[in-house]
Amino acid sequence: MARSVIEEIKERLDIVEVVGRYVPLKKSGTSYKALCPFHTEKTPSFFVFPHTQTWRCFGACGTGGDVINFVQKREGLDFPETLRMLAREAGVDLDRDRDPQLLARQNLLRELNHLAAAYYHNLLLNSPAAAAARAYLQRREINDETVRRFQLGFAPAGWENLLAYLREREYNVEDMEAAGLVVFSDDGRPHDRFYNRLMIPIRDLQGRVIGFGGRTLGDGEPKYLNTAQTAIFDKSSTIFALDLAKRSIRSRDEVVLVEGYMDVLSAHQRGFTNVVAVMGTAVTKQQLRRLSKYTRNFVFALDADAAGANATLRSASVIRDTLTRSQVPVPTPWGKFRYEKRLDAVVKIAAMPPGQDPDDVLRTDPALWQQLIAQATPLVDFYFDMALKEVDLNTAQGKSDLVRKLIPTIHEIDNPVERRHYVGRLANLAGVTEREIDLELESYARALSRTRRREEPPAVPSETVEQSEEPPLWPEEAATEAEAPAATRPTIGPEEHILACLLARPQLILWADGALAELRVEPVSSEDFENSVNRVIFDALQEFLYSDADEIEEHLLEVLGDFTRTYLDELTTYADALQNTDEDQLRKDLINSVLNLRLAHLKQARRNFETELRHCGNDKEQRELLGRQLVDNTRQTKLLEKALSSRSASTQWVSEALRYSFST
Ligand code: UTP
Ligand code: MN
Repeated sequence: MARSVIEEIKERLDIVEVVGRYVPLKKSGTSYKALCPFHTEKTPSFFVFPHTQTWRCFGACGTGGDVINFVQKREGLDFPETLRMLAREAGVDLDRDRDPQLLARQNLLRELNHLAAAYYHNLLLNSPAAAAARAYLQRREINDETVRRFQLGFAPAGWENLLAYLREREYNVEDMEAAGLVVFSDDGRPHDRFYNRLMIPIRDLQGRVIGFGGRTLGDGEPKYLNTAQTAIFDKSSTIFALDLAKRSIRSRDEVVLVEGYMDVLSAHQRGFTNVVAVMGTAVTKQQLRRLSKYTRNFVFALDADAAGANATLRSASVIRDTLTRSQVPVPTPWGKFRYEKRLDAVVKIAAMPPGQDPDDVLRTDPALWQQLIAQATPLVDFYFDMALKEVDLNTAQGKSDLVRKLIPTIHEIDNPVERRHYVGRLANLAGVTEREIDLELESYARALSRTRRREEPPAVPSETVEQSEEPPLWPEEAATEAEAPAATRPTIGPEEHILACLLARPQLILWADGALAELRVEPVSSEDFENSVNRVIFDALQEFLYSDADEIEEHLLEVLGDFTRTYLDELTTYADALQNTDEDQLRKDLINSVLNLRLAHLKQARRNFETELRHCGNDKEQRELLGRQLVDNTRQTKLLEKALSSRSASTQWVSEALRYSFST
């Protein structure tokens, strides 16, 4: 786990020992004290607590933290530097969680793909041999800007073009093969995997080339040759063009999924930049999870033909299972997560006119495209349409088949109003009363819960691999993403809750500082955070107040390093869950968390002063000082408690709000 590296460093180092190297510590009760190294003072108000492995200055600084930010502050280093230094000292391998060999390997494979993309691209733009490819693009109305934006390329005819190019740069053939660029023929001779094809680079979320789709310029088979599974390319989790589309998906709060590369190129070229492709197969759980970080509104733009409809139907069951049946973490007050199902994905189907794919529509009639997307059919209606095509309503059998087919779909609908609507529609079509449909639903639910009980967790309909002319290149692994056990998720305390609120709505901080000022309480500051990782995250949020969430994430990964990726992911997931909370509730919870956090620190100070007082004997000056500090502590505690209680008694924890928003 990403966090555990940092946690382990903290575990292995003793804060008393480390801090003791910078300042002479004196034992005081169960803690240690010293003159604060961060401000000038005559009596010690700097304390180190061995049991929590934290420090705090109860004097002018009013701050505290863990061993990492102490050293960071003292040494004037940045976070990664500090971490590196302490890791070395603690004998913890920072890269432990990321297999260094695998990492180096992946970097090499990406480098090779990067070079290949540049090589192919350059040929497409400049080589006489690419004349046919350029003509092909022209015929398909792909313009220069699209060629550049997607870095399209051309793999020339011949067996050893890229091979020779990479060899000259001293890469070895085995690595080229591992990168998916070179294959060995039966006689053991290596040759280029792609030749005489239009090359479409496939990139990861960060825009790094991880593979290619290569299209024949004529009628050759297969139409598209893709990179096979490699250590950096896994088709079932990759989404074509997500790197280019992510911002637009977020800002439009909608993603349009298509099946083909060409559909994406065509859409982006015409300004529909929230379009991505799942590359010809039914959408997978991993892909949906990935997309649901950006939006909960999905439109599937698909060919009208039967194959398209089938693929869609398969997708639809995955969608239901992933998006409406998935468990999202819901915070419990100060505690850990509780898991609840999330019900708010809106999935629609935009069927293209018969015989046309999205690219055809986009080229001939962009306005129609827009209209088709805007008027996409909600998934349930789409199911109705599909089922209606398959049954003959003039027969008794047909009517009962219709009910049988649609009951599972209606069962999935949690919104009571919607559910009523479809129960009515089905009753109407089948010529029965709504009551009869309700009874069917009840018996279906009973049967389902029986099977569920037998086979926990609920079985997910398996994805079937679509058969294409091309032999399956990707062993479509069952989507067995291991769910992290609850224990490895971050414990959500006030620090984490504040961060999640701010991750969900960064600009809330501006409001929060105002609200705190009204309560005569200091604005939120990074000094409030004891956990140094949290502190770094808070600083980044401040710095990137007006930036896109992706930018913040990128910046954080840069500052915190890869080893905190999982922690960040988890925090973001938690923040995503908060997205649905109503604004007022989010605000209340934020302020309450800040107040509670401060109160906890004051309480700690108080305990400390009291211990000190017991131990300071007859030192009059010291007694007086501690007395003053206790009075001040009481005053501040009262202020905070008053602030907390003045904030409506009805202030419930955010979990309440979430429960509400999930069940409506
Ligand atoms: P399509 O045949 O619909 O592709 O297959 P397309 O993008 O519309 O291609 P054009 O317009 O004929 O050039 C949809 C997707 O399925 C995958 C590709 O990702 C393709 O974009 N596919 C298709 C393959 O991987 N291999 C194939 O042989 C065919
Ligand atoms: Mn097409």
